Amino acid sequence: MFDFYFSGQVSIDFTVEKDTYFLVLNSQNLTIAEKMVSDKKNHRLPIARILEYPPRQQLYIELKDKLRKKVNYTIVMKFTTRLGKELEGFYISSYTTKSGEKKYLATTHFEPTYARSAFPCFDEPQFKAKFKVSIYRDRFHISLFNMPVLSTEEAGFFMGTGLLKDEFAESLEMSTYLVAFVVCDYRSIRNLTKRGVPVSVYAPPDLLPQAEFALNTAIKMMDHYERFFNIAYPLPKQDLIAIPDFGVGAMENWGLITYRETSILYDAVQTSAAAHQWVAVVVAHELAHQWFGNLVTMRWWNDLWLNEGFASYLEYLTVDHIMPGWNMMEQFVLDKTQAGLDLDALSNSHPISVAVHDPTEIEAIFDTISYSKNIMDTWTRQMGFPLIHISREGTTVSASQSRFLLTPEPRNENNTALHEPKSPYHYKWYVPLSYYTDINEEIETVWMNMTDVKFEINASVTWMKANVNQSGFYRVNYDPEMWDALIAVLKKNYTIFSPTDRASLLDDAFTLCRAGLLNVTTVLEMALYLKNERDYAPWATALGHLQSWARYLSESAPYRLFLQFTNHLLSPVATSLGWNDTGTHLEKLMRSDVMVSAVLAGVEDTVKEAKQKFYDWMNKGTRIPPNMREAIYSAGIKYGGVKEWQFCWNKYNTSRVPSERKLLLRVLGVASDPWILQRYLLATLDRDKIRPQDIKVVMSTVASNPEGGSLLAWRHLKAHWLGLQGLFGNGTFTMGSLISTTTTHFSTDYDYKEVDVFFRRIDVGSGSRSLDQALETIKLNIHWVRRNELPLYDWLTKYLGS
Ligand code: BES
Ligand code: ZN
Repeated sequence: MFDFYFSGQVSIDFTVEKDTYFLVLNSQNLTIAEKMVSDKKNHRLPIARILEYPPRQQLYIELKDKLRKKVNYTIVMKFTTRLGKELEGFYISSYTTKSGEKKYLATTHFEPTYARSAFPCFDEPQFKAKFKVSIYRDRFHISLFNMPVLSTEEAGFFMGTGLLKDEFAESLEMSTYLVAFVVCDYRSIRNLTKRGVPVSVYAPPDLLPQAEFALNTAIKMMDHYERFFNIAYPLPKQDLIAIPDFGVGAMENWGLITYRETSILYDAVQTSAAAHQWVAVVVAHELAHQWFGNLVTMRWWNDLWLNEGFASYLEYLTVDHIMPGWNMMEQFVLDKTQAGLDLDALSNSHPISVAVHDPTEIEAIFDTISYSKNIMDTWTRQMGFPLIHISREGTTVSASQSRFLLTPEPRNENNTALHEPKSPYHYKWYVPLSYYTDINEEIETVWMNMTDVKFEINASVTWMKANVNQSGFYRVNYDPEMWDALIAVLKKNYTIFSPTDRASLLDDAFTLCRAGLLNVTTVLEMALYLKNERDYAPWATALGHLQSWARYLSESAPYRLFLQFTNHLLSPVATSLGWNDTGTHLEKLMRSDVMVSAVLAGVEDTVKEAKQKFYDWMNKGTRIPPNMREAIYSAGIKYGGVKEWQFCWNKYNTSRVPSERKLLLRVLGVASDPWILQRYLLATLDRDKIRPQDIKVVMSTVASNPEGGSLLAWRHLKAHWLGLQGLFGNGTFTMGSLISTTTTHFSTDYDYKEVDVFFRRIDVGSGSRSLDQALETIKLNIHWVRRNELPLYDWLTKYLGS
């Protein structure tokens, strides 16, 4: 690949709050040719010296004479640098046209601290400024900025090419991390909001038809947010743009939102319901930031959760509003609450509001805690969440609270946890404990104000269900008889509970078992009711846990029996769902998930049919409906060989639909032949084969492949650690997520030691919390298997034998 360079000039008007000799700006990898500080009358102020301090990405300018407070000054700098190849700062991306021509574009990603690598600036969110930008380009490209173009004029020649200068309107006051500009040869489609604000979607010309859905959705959502916030969108235009190489899912730059292709493009014939929904969710999320985050901004990154937590909530609320048939609020519990409860149960979690000091620490807090947890001090200022234990004696119910941890902290004789960081609230919470019973269907709420509580119920109550619809960010454990009563209802007439409540019972039971607080046999008994379950939320929850358990068990005696058990639970629902891609949105999501799991677990009839459909597609070109593709492709690849794999790899290389390409990337990792898997991993080392943004998908699909994939992926991570670190940098969360996807399946002492020893001599940067969490998880897996393999084996033998 070639190197591309760019040069620029910034001019910053500023005042200082107290008299000083020094200015400190941010600059990273910029060659600054000229620096000039002047006062209002344009008099140059003599500079005493200039220091660059690369470790802190800072530029110090010391003046001969003091700068006076409240006086206007200007600093002008000329600089040059290389366009990056990594997915941050001002960087280069490319795509290939239908006819095979490679096209380049230059684009930006600045959050949290990369604006400083595109131009010298005061790169902190509280330093808001108005940006006035001009961009020079040739006439084969267009340029885009947060604001619309005011004028374009001829600007002479550069190396034989005639240049044009686009001058953009001045922005409102905004933070540096939200600035964006793109130079590309895209086309766009455009429409107006009710108030007449133009909204455009930009994409490579071939892909433009796939931008229709995002445009329509964005228009509806802009109108919705204006009503919701009761504030008019303050900029004169909104652009959404698809970027072929993009590090995260999307970025909310004010008025120029950048998206990974799969987060914005939708093909009516080829994209699955899940991928369709993802586009709507991402568009809703980034548009929410246009008000919450962009107009109103956190002072410093410790309050990132305000930004991301609120956008994560609004994204579901807003999609629910636009697509009422999609049952988004039911999915909220699955995608956000359960994910948050999962990560926050590790002792190496962090409080929502967290002190951060440097770019590496800032990057590390873009995680599930910041995105998916609740509000209020006992919730924001201490990490974790409560486990509510409910017991009953006659008519009296007692509910007690303690911090829920998957691995209990070691305690001394005074019952003080030895390593737990001190909390100002001593790990007690304000908890709204909601419940209903078989006698009283009305929902009651009892407040636990950092305390335990007792309350009365009717003597004839046979069961009670707490944390109604898992709407509270806590878990519930019951006395054994109370669990038995709930399980009896699930088996007899599960529809008494809403789908979300069924999901919540499953999620709590599986998780409590993982923490050693509930017998494995209780969970298996509960799981038996799934033979009759036909709803999405409980199945999505159960499948996640069953797959994790299968992974932990992969090297222990009950593994094969457990697969047989999963198989047994899945086959009735798989049969009843069938292969017609029909029904409601949730039915489509469920059918896809269930059929994929059934194929991977080897449910005989499902595998047979899926393979047949795969070969009809491969040999006769029979079309497969979008929601059935993952299951059918998986069957072809898992139970086929090199020929089937190569066929899908060719499809990956030729498909023009990003959602289809992403799906293929995932299923290519379910192959059973280690030679194929290894070759697939090696393909990630060549950026012409697999884009760096997609390496994570490949590594994680291979790592979760039970046919030895986790060992191959781990070996690959070790062998290429330095190369990957060079590619993604130490400051980005990618390295952390690679550590967790490749190691958290491990469940033996040997593997624990391996991971521990390997990373002991390496600086993992932003990945350090992920590493601690991964080690904690492996230890947990080891203990869980040790504790449960015998009872599991006995129960499964008895059950499956009969
Ligand atoms: N502001 C973030 C993008 C971001 C993430 C920048 C991490 C820097 C580091 C953006 O608003 C976001 O949250 N994007 C999500 C998608 C969203 C639908 C959850 C993402 O990229 O995953
Ligand atoms: Zn966000």
